[in-house]
Amino acid sequence: MPSRRTFLKIAASSVGLPIMYNSMHGQISGLRYRAAAKNMIYGAATSSSRLRTDTAYRTTIIQECGIITPEYEMKWDRMRPTATTYNFTDADYIVNFARQHGILVHGHTLCWHRALPSWFDTTVNRSNAEQFLRNHIQTVVSRYRGQIYSWDVVNEAIEPRDATPYHLRNSRWYQYLGENYIDIAFRAAAAADPSALLVYNEYDVEFDDNIRRDAILNLLRRLKARRVPIHALGIQGHMRAADRAKLNAHAHLFRQFLNDVAALGLQIIITEFDCDDRSLPASIQQRDAGVAQMYGDYCAVVMNNPAVVGFITWGITDKYTELNSSAPRADREPQRPLPLDATMQRKSAWYALEWWFMNTFARPQRTTAVTNTLPEHMLISELECAPNPAIQQARISFHLNQPRYLHIYIVDVQGRIVARLAHEELFSQGLHRRVWDIDPLSCSQGLYYCCISSSGNTVSIPIVVVR
Ligand code: G3I
Repeated sequence: MPSRRTFLKIAASSVGLPIMYNSMHGQISGLRYRAAAKNMIYGAATSSSRLRTDTAYRTTIIQECGIITPEYEMKWDRMRPTATTYNFTDADYIVNFARQHGILVHGHTLCWHRALPSWFDTTVNRSNAEQFLRNHIQTVVSRYRGQIYSWDVVNEAIEPRDATPYHLRNSRWYQYLGENYIDIAFRAAAAADPSALLVYNEYDVEFDDNIRRDAILNLLRRLKARRVPIHALGIQGHMRAADRAKLNAHAHLFRQFLNDVAALGLQIIITEFDCDDRSLPASIQQRDAGVAQMYGDYCAVVMNNPAVVGFITWGITDKYTELNSSAPRADREPQRPLPLDATMQRKSAWYALEWWFMNTFARPQRTTAVTNTLPEHMLISELECAPNPAIQQARISFHLNQPRYLHIYIVDVQGRIVARLAHEELFSQGLHRRVWDIDPLSCSQGLYYCCISSSGNTVSIPIVVVR
C-alpha cells in the first residue's frame, strides 16, 4: 500500500525556462497545449477590438493560443499618430491581456515598407531616417521590454523585382539608409530588450522562386557575418488552396531552404499561416477539406524540421479573416481559411494542426528564447521547491531583481495545471520564501513542474510527488 503521506522533493537541480508550461488556463484541449507538449508554440494574430468586444472569441483565444500577434496595433500607422507622439492604448491592451492569461506575444512589426503613417513621406528623409528608426524601436521595444517573446524586427525586405543589388526591396528605408537599415533595426531592438527573440519575417519561400529564396538566405548570411543580433526567420505562410500541387511539387526546395536557414543557427517560426480558398467551389465541405489538405501538406514539410518551433495562423476564426477584404471570393461567400469556423467550431484544418502537433517529434527544450543559460537580466533566480512531507506543502523561494507580477503554479508532465499558488500577484524586489498548501487530491504520485511565469517567461523546476 502506498503511504498516504504526500511529499514533494526536488528531482533535479537544473532550473530551466521551458516555454511549454506557460499556460494559465485550465482548458487543455486547445492547440497551445498540443504544441507545448512538443516544446512548440501555437498561436494566432488577433486584434484589441475583437478581444474587447467578442466574448466567445476572447475565450477561444485563451483556450487555443500560446502566443498572439497584434494584427495592426504595433504597426507604425497605428502607433504613430504624429511624428513626435505615440499611441500605445491598443498595443498595451493586447500585451496586458496576454500577460493575464499566460500567453506570449509576437510583436509585429518594427520596420516595414507598408502601414506607414500619412506624415511619414513628408517628414522622414535621408538625413533623419536613421534617427526616426532608432527612436521608434528604442521607444516601442523598451516599453514592452520583458513582455514580448519575439519581435518581427524587419518585415519583407526582399523584392527581386526591384532590381537592387542583393535583391533588396527598394523601400523608403532602403532608399534612405541602404541595407544598413536592417542592421540598425536589429541592433536597436536587441539593445532595448536583450531577452526578445529577434525575427526577420518574409513570404513566398515555398515554391519555385529560387532567386527570392537565395536572396533571403544571402541576406541572413550577411547579417550573421556582421554579427547582427538575429535569432529567427519568420515565414509568413499565406497559402492559396489553388497552390497545393505547386507546394508539393516544390517541397524539396522548401525543405532545403529550411535546412539552409537552420544551418545558420536560426530558429524558424511560421508567422502568418492562412489558406485562401478562392479556387475551391462554394460547398463548405469541399472547401474545408481543401483548406485542411493545404494545412496538412504544409505541416508535412515544416513540422519535420526541428528548427521550426512555432506555428502562428493569421487569425483563429473565419469570422475575422482579413482575406474577406484583401481576397474576396467571386461568389461572395465568406472565406474559410482558418482553423475555426465563424462560430468558433473546429474545422478539419484545426484537426490537421492537432495531428501534426501530436505526431511531430519534441523540439529540444529551449531554456530561453536566445541562450541556454539564465540570462543576466532574468528576473527570477534561486528558485527552489522544498518538500515538507508531513504537512503537504510546497516551500518555494526565489529572488526577483525588480518587482513583478507572477503566476506560480504546478503542472503535470502534459502541461496541465494541477495547482495554482499565485495568480497575477505582485511580488516585490528581493528574496521571497513562501509556503503553499498543495491539495493531495490534485497531485497523485509522479513528476510535476513548479513554474513561475512572468511576462511570458517561465522558470520551472521539476518536482516528484511520492505517496
Ligand atoms: O481600421 C481602418 C478603418 O477605420 C478604415 O475605415 C478602413 C478604410 O480602409 O481601413 C481600416 O484599416 C485597415 C486595416 O487593415 C483594418 O482593417 C487598413 O486600411 C488596411 O490597410 C489594413 O490591412 C492590414 C494590412 O496588413 C496592412 O496593415 C490587414 O488587415 C492585415 O491583415 C495585413 O497583415 C499583413 C501583415 O502585417 C504582413 N504580412 C502580410 C499580411 C496580410 O496582408
